[in-house]
Amino acid sequence: MSSIKLNSILISDPVNNAAVEILRERKLQVDVRTGLAKEQLLEIIGNYDALIVRSVTQVTKEVIDAGRNLKLIGRAGVGVDNIDVPAATAAGIVVINAPGGNTISAVELTCAMILASSRYVAQACAALKNGVWDRKSYTGNELRGKTIAIIGLGRIGREVATRMQAFEMRTIGYDPIIPAEACAKFGVQSLSLEEIWPQADYITVHTPLIPETKNLINATTLAKCKKGVRIINVARGGIVDEDALLDALQSGHVAGAGLDVYLEEPPRNTQLVQHPKVVCTPHLGASTKEAQDNVAKEIALQFLDLMEGKKVQGI
Ligand code: NAD
Ligand code: MLT
Repeated sequence: MSSIKLNSILISDPVNNAAVEILRERKLQVDVRTGLAKEQLLEIIGNYDALIVRSVTQVTKEVIDAGRNLKLIGRAGVGVDNIDVPAATAAGIVVINAPGGNTISAVELTCAMILASSRYVAQACAALKNGVWDRKSYTGNELRGKTIAIIGLGRIGREVATRMQAFEMRTIGYDPIIPAEACAKFGVQSLSLEEIWPQADYITVHTPLIPETKNLINATTLAKCKKGVRIINVARGGIVDEDALLDALQSGHVAGAGLDVYLEEPPRNTQLVQHPKVVCTPHLGASTKEAQDNVAKEIALQFLDLMEGKKVQGI
């Protein structure tokens, strides 16, 4: 791979200072300017060779067109949904992510959601803080002996599987590119989606949001699930059809949901997050000290690798 020559880098979202330190050590000019309005970003982006974002900055075609000198865009995280990758590629700009740094944090939040949903931790806590001693409304269910379906068995999905096996759950899953033998190595029985729906007590999604996964969990697929199924989404809003999920919660077909991500962030569909059987967090999957430290270092080190013409792991 030919090397990418960089002098000036703009960091436009809050990214751990480790990235700044690594890049400045190489005598690169690094400007941290977070909270820029769209017009401000368009005005200054032409002065930079590279851009680092988290998820707030929307790197649209307009931004890419204004970035006359841009050669590289780095996402300090996994999803690149906030970057118009086709427009960047067409403009000859390389887009990379930090694929592994926040995996364990997203895994652990998923496990927390599964447990919290099963035992009404958030709801009972809120009630008690409001002075209500209610032990009747919050009878949950054990995880032992239940079946959890993991859709998407990449970095996060497989780590969720091995952790939930510690609770004696049966782990089944689906991923179009991971062969059944590979799934068996981390204890997941690979099944088709049609086989999964009626068997799962829990369904957790860990795919990117792409046309094939948009509304993957919808009214039709939910109807094929067991009554009492619980749905977890710590991946991307839009993989679960929010209206269908709300209907199924209201009818009692779905017993609970754990949501970290939403079609719109913050969510406008407040009926869903307000539902008593929903435990929700505001896109906190990667919000740990460790994950933010990891992704900052990962993206900065990959920038240095690309400057030296080395191959990188990210997209
Ligand atoms: P990954 O690329 O390692 O794994 C994704 C897997 O999904 C791949 O194995 C892929 O084959 C599979 N997949 C693709 N299409 C599929 C389909 N139609 N059906 C089933 N599986 C399919 O990604 P990852 O690092 O495990 O991340 C998974 C998701 O979690 C991404 O959407 C990422 O953006 C998101 N994420 C969210 C947070 C958060 O803060 N909530 C943090 C990290 C990652
Ligand atoms: C990701 O894709 O890495 C997550 O959504 C976490 C983040 O927003 O950084």
